[in-house]
Amino acid sequence: MSSNTFGKLFAVTTFGESHGPAIGCVIDGCPPGIAIAPEDFAHDLARRATGKSRYTSQRREADEVEILSGVYEGRTTGTPIALVIRNTDARSKDYAGIADTFRPGHADYTYWQKYGIRDPRGGGRASARETTMRVAAAVIAKKWLKDRFGIEVHGWLAQLGGIRPDLPAEAAIDFAVVESNPFFWPVAAQVPELEHYINALRKAGDSVGARVNVVATGVPPGWGEPVYGKLDAELASALMSINAVKGVEIGAGFASVAQNGSEHRDEMRLDGFTSNHAGGILGGISSGQEVTASIALKPASSILIPGRSVNLAGEEVEVRTRGRHDPCVGIRATPIAEAMVALVLMDQALRHRAQCGDVAEARPRLPASAR
Ligand SMILES: Cc1cc2nc3c(=O)[nH]c(=O)nc-3n(C[C@H](O)[C@H](O)[C@H](O)COP(=O)(O)O)c2cc1C
Repeated sequence: MSSNTFGKLFAVTTFGESHGPAIGCVIDGCPPGIAIAPEDFAHDLARRATGKSRYTSQRREADEVEILSGVYEGRTTGTPIALVIRNTDARSKDYAGIADTFRPGHADYTYWQKYGIRDPRGGGRASARETTMRVAAAVIAKKWLKDRFGIEVHGWLAQLGGIRPDLPAEAAIDFAVVESNPFFWPVAAQVPELEHYINALRKAGDSVGARVNVVATGVPPGWGEPVYGKLDAELASALMSINAVKGVEIGAGFASVAQNGSEHRDEMRLDGFTSNHAGGILGGISSGQEVTASIALKPASSILIPGRSVNLAGEEVEVRTRGRHDPCVGIRATPIAEAMVALVLMDQALRHRAQCGDVAEARPRLPASAR
């Protein structure tokens, strides 16, 4: 009921707050036999972490994963996997000034209205610190998806404020470039422009929104459950559950509004689909094409520019949020979006295997065309 668990067969429960002693997760339903070691988590957690560049929050967490259960001699056993990360760089005094005040645009007011009590330190449970455990759980999902099906999930920053990648609309993304800069940006030549932009924004004490795109390659046809467990519905829900996400598109998304049927439908030839406006999903079921999604992230509300709000005493006040914050939360959201897509695919893969594992491969099967 309180929705701290995500997924049906690969069920991930996260716990912990931004400035509590630790954050963690329990993964129930993980297939046995997956090789996993604490160091496997390092790469993706470092991609999500703060303090890795000047362009994100300067909080510096070690993000060392302790595996408490469910792994024996380096392999998952099929029993619940418990992972824990200690919080080592919480600076709660930064939040003393806003403990009694609701930051506009943050979750302070709504948590207060719902629970009548809240942990204001670092945003408590509403902090994106929680997403660390989603990324950790998805390391296991990504590994299984890759080993079993050759599935890969990649994200990139597709817009930062008003800046878009200097690329033709249908251009292939070079993920080596995306991974080579702190913005997850697909065009290396634009990185100095982004640096300049974020530096100026930080100086002005403001923040800005962003768009993140995600693509999953290698997803076989047939995954997803009609009617209420549609793959696109579950992706939308999973991506919308990321902090600060205000919009989700699958495939052509809102651009479909201006398209004609003759343009939008992805025609089929024996050598594959001729386009991918559907984002690899038809009737809630994967078609074998790339699964594509895009999310809009709002600008972080914790900024230095004073804003109007109210406090617990019922007074109108001015708020100015100090502390270590992300001038553009969309930058670090890239690995989180990948993680949510991987977790949905993992869960849907197990659900498909449970119900339809005995169904013979249907003919004709079109090759997995990229678009
Ligand atoms: C990676 C990431 C980092 C974030 N960092 C901050 C931050 O430094 N300051 C802030 O005010 N909000 C930050 N947020 C957004 C808040 O967590 C979010 O706005 C808040 O919980 C309210 O939820 P909502 O925006 O989804 O309604 C971050 C979000 C993400 C995804």
